[in-house]
Amino acid sequence: MAKFETQVGIVGAGPAGLMLSHLLHQQGIASIVLEAKQRSYCEERVRAGVLEHTSVEMLRDAGVAKRLNREGLRHEGIELGLGGQLHRIPFVELTGKAVTVYGQQEVVKDLISQRLSDGGDLRFECGEVSLHDLEGDCPSIRVEKEANVDIVSCDYIAGCDGFHGISRSSIPPRALTVYDRTYPFAWLGILAEAAPSREELIYMHHERGFALYSMRSPRITRLYLQCKPDEDLAEWSDDRIWSELHTRLGCSDGWRPTEGKILQKGMTGMRSFVVEPLKFGRLFLAGDAAHIVPPTGAKGMNLAFADVHYLAEALREKYRDNNDAKLDAYSATCLSRIWKAQRFSWWMTSLLHLFDDASPFDRKRQIAELEYVTSSRAAATSLAENYVGLPLD
Ligand code: FAD
Ligand code: DHB
Repeated sequence: MAKFETQVGIVGAGPAGLMLSHLLHQQGIASIVLEAKQRSYCEERVRAGVLEHTSVEMLRDAGVAKRLNREGLRHEGIELGLGGQLHRIPFVELTGKAVTVYGQQEVVKDLISQRLSDGGDLRFECGEVSLHDLEGDCPSIRVEKEANVDIVSCDYIAGCDGFHGISRSSIPPRALTVYDRTYPFAWLGILAEAAPSREELIYMHHERGFALYSMRSPRITRLYLQCKPDEDLAEWSDDRIWSELHTRLGCSDGWRPTEGKILQKGMTGMRSFVVEPLKFGRLFLAGDAAHIVPPTGAKGMNLAFADVHYLAEALREKYRDNNDAKLDAYSATCLSRIWKAQRFSWWMTSLLHLFDDASPFDRKRQIAELEYVTSSRAAATSLAENYVGLPLD
């Protein structure tokens, strides 16, 4: 059995765990990151693509935005589609801020590379992790791999291991309140080798279901289709996917998405989920370990960054001034922002998707809401200020 000591033990090397480890390092606080998967898995998993203004600023301030500044695609607005007509929501004009399209796996690559060049202790394929003595002064993480057991003793543990990780389930259920909502649909997402033929993302409401036109780089497009929650991917040939994308995304001005080789297909479930509080003893939850949003508002990765911003600040005050106030307030501070992002993600999802059980009244109300958002500067500004990211402080 090998024993290790660190100040903060971090479970999970996704955006939350890696960014936290980096922010702590900048404040002279040591951490060990324990990750179940291989480095290549973390670096290649295609997920989020939109960084809020707030997240871009955070990555810049943290000195990890060199490639993001070079390769990220600045988007000054999005287009909302209704009945084949597009209506632009001009973020910069309405809020003075833009968003940046830059793949989550690129952020993860940049953070891993920065941590390793700073001598960070990242342990990929670490083995099976369990958390102990969370309510005591010296919690620990046990890591078991084949016949080998490591014990990492820490001052604090950050549970950054995503929705299916072990951190949240290490907290006794009696200590948590769960808020949960599932949606009666999912997204079928593809990555295609096709140059984007539109400058901005298109969120399209269509009578056959929602469709999203997005991108990753000057060569790669990312597209999504609303589908059944139990949709069988095997039933979606490349031809069927393109045909459905043409039908739903086709615009009255004749624009259609450009086709290309489909590099990847996948399904994403739609769920809103929050646990309260984000703290149990010396364990702090951050990112998807504590909350998930349906992807329509592009908030998941951004919320993960906001959580670790607050956690790093709180730990800095603790170590520098021996002041617990921000650690004590961590959960409430995060939750205030999390619930606003939950509201926005629920609202964007409800605005744009087709609900099988919608009554004729619901349908009329939904169309009226879309017409309102696309015609009222006040309504568009509300969408824009949430999409570019609410301020952190
Ligand atoms: P994760 O990225 O899930 O990282 C958790 C890490 O912990 C993983 O590496 C995992 O392997 C590891 N782990 C799990 N269990 C253990 C264990 N027991 N021991 C050790 N390690 C463990 N968000 C946006 O902001 N914008 C978007 O445009 C967007 N689009 C999305 C599109 C799709 C298709 C999907 C699926 C998600 C999207 N999201 C988006 C959400 C975003 O990807 C997540 O919110 C984000 O990954 C959360 O980061 P995290 O670090 O909290 O968790
Ligand atoms: C992407 C994903 C989203 O959920 C979204 O709202 C916008 C873009 C994307 O993967 O590019």
